[in-house]
Amino acid sequence: MQATQALLQDFYTYLLKQRKQMIGYPSNQSYNFENLYKFFELSINNIGDPLSEGPYKLKAHKFEKEVVEFLADLVGVEGDNFWGYVTNGGTEGNMYGLYIAREIYPNSIVYYSQEAHYSIQKILKLLKMPSIAIKTYKNGEIDIEDLERALSVNRTKTPIILATIGTTVKSGFDNLPKIKNLLKDYAFTNHYIHCDAALGGMILPFCDDAFEIGLKSGVHSISVSGHKMFGSPMPCGIVLARKDYVDKIASSVEYIGALDTTLSGSRNGHTTLLLWYAIQKNQYEGYKKIVEKCLKNAQFAVQEFNKIGIKAWRNKFSNTVVIPKPSRALLEKWQLAHEGKIAHIITMPHIDQSDISKFISDYAKDISTS
Ligand SMILES: Cc1ncc(COP(=O)(O)O)c(C=O)c1O
Repeated sequence: MQATQALLQDFYTYLLKQRKQMIGYPSNQSYNFENLYKFFELSINNIGDPLSEGPYKLKAHKFEKEVVEFLADLVGVEGDNFWGYVTNGGTEGNMYGLYIAREIYPNSIVYYSQEAHYSIQKILKLLKMPSIAIKTYKNGEIDIEDLERALSVNRTKTPIILATIGTTVKSGFDNLPKIKNLLKDYAFTNHYIHCDAALGGMILPFCDDAFEIGLKSGVHSISVSGHKMFGSPMPCGIVLARKDYVDKIASSVEYIGALDTTLSGSRNGHTTLLLWYAIQKNQYEGYKKIVEKCLKNAQFAVQEFNKIGIKAWRNKFSNTVVIPKPSRALLEKWQLAHEGKIAHIITMPHIDQSDISKFISDYAKDISTS
C-alpha cells in the first residue's frame, strides 16, 4: 500500500506542476469544489431523461434541470420549447444535435467548416450523414461565399448547418446572422442549425455586441463544454435542443421507468453537481467578470507579443491568441496546441498576466535561439 501511496503522491505532484503551464488548451483550472467532496462517497447516476421520475433514486436530476435552465436563460430560448441534459462533453452534445437533425430531416446534407472540431467528421461518419466541408477565411470563420455555392447546387436537400462558435485552433465564430440570411435567400422549406459552442457558448452571451446563439434566435440545438469556461475538473458539457424535436425521438423504457432521450444510459451525476455548484457560486454576474478578465488578458497577450515584433492576433470576443509555432521544446513545456505553422495560447480563468509575461519571455528566448 505504501508503494501505491507513493505512486499517487508522485502523480499528484506531477499534475500540480503541469497545471501551472496549462496555457495551450481551453481547460479551466480555476475552481474550488471542497464543499462537494462528500458526494464522492456516493454513487450518483443520472440515468434517463432529466425530467423523468422512475424508481432509481440515487440521481441528481433536480440539479441537472437547473443547470440546463441556466444555459437556456443565458443563450435565450422560445418560451418552454427547450430540453437538454448534462453530457460527457461537447462532442456528445454535437452528436446529439446532429442525431436529432438527421431524425427530423433524413433527406439532408450537413454543411460544416473545414476548421470544425476533428470530432465532427467522426460523428458524421457514425451517423452516416451526407456532408460538405466548407472553406474558411483566414481568421477561421466559415467562408460565406463558399457556403452559398454549396447550398445553391443542393437545393432539394434540407440543409443542416453545423456552425462552430469558436473554432478549435483560431476560435473563429461562424457568422450565424449571415448564414441565416443565406438560408432565407435560397428559400429552403426547412433547415436545421446546430451550434458547436464548446468554448464560445460561455463567452458570446456575455459580450454585449455579439450575435445571438440561442434557440430563440433560430438555432435548433447547441452544445457547450462544461470543463471549459463553466469550470469543472471533470470533462462534461450541456446540450440544449428544441423540445418539440426531442419529443419526436423520445422512447419510453420500462426498466428505468423513464424516457430514453439521452445518448448514454448511465450518466454522470457528479458532473451535474459540479456544474450546478459552479453556477450557484458564479451566477451570471460572476461569469461575466470571468469572461471579461479572460478577454482582457488575451488582448494583453496580443499587445505584449506585438511589442516584441511577434505577429500574434485574436478574433474579437475570443480568448484564443494565435502565434507563430515555436520550437518543439516550448510546445511541450507549455502544452501548446499547434497546427501547421501556428500555435495558440488560450487565456482561461486560471491564467493571469504574470503567467502570460512568463510565457512571452520564454517564447522570446526560444525564437532568438532557433
Ligand atoms: C470547437 C470545439 N468543438 C468541440 C470540442 C470538443 O469538446 P469536448 O472536449 O468537450 O468533447 C472542442 C474541444 O476543444 C472544440 O474546440
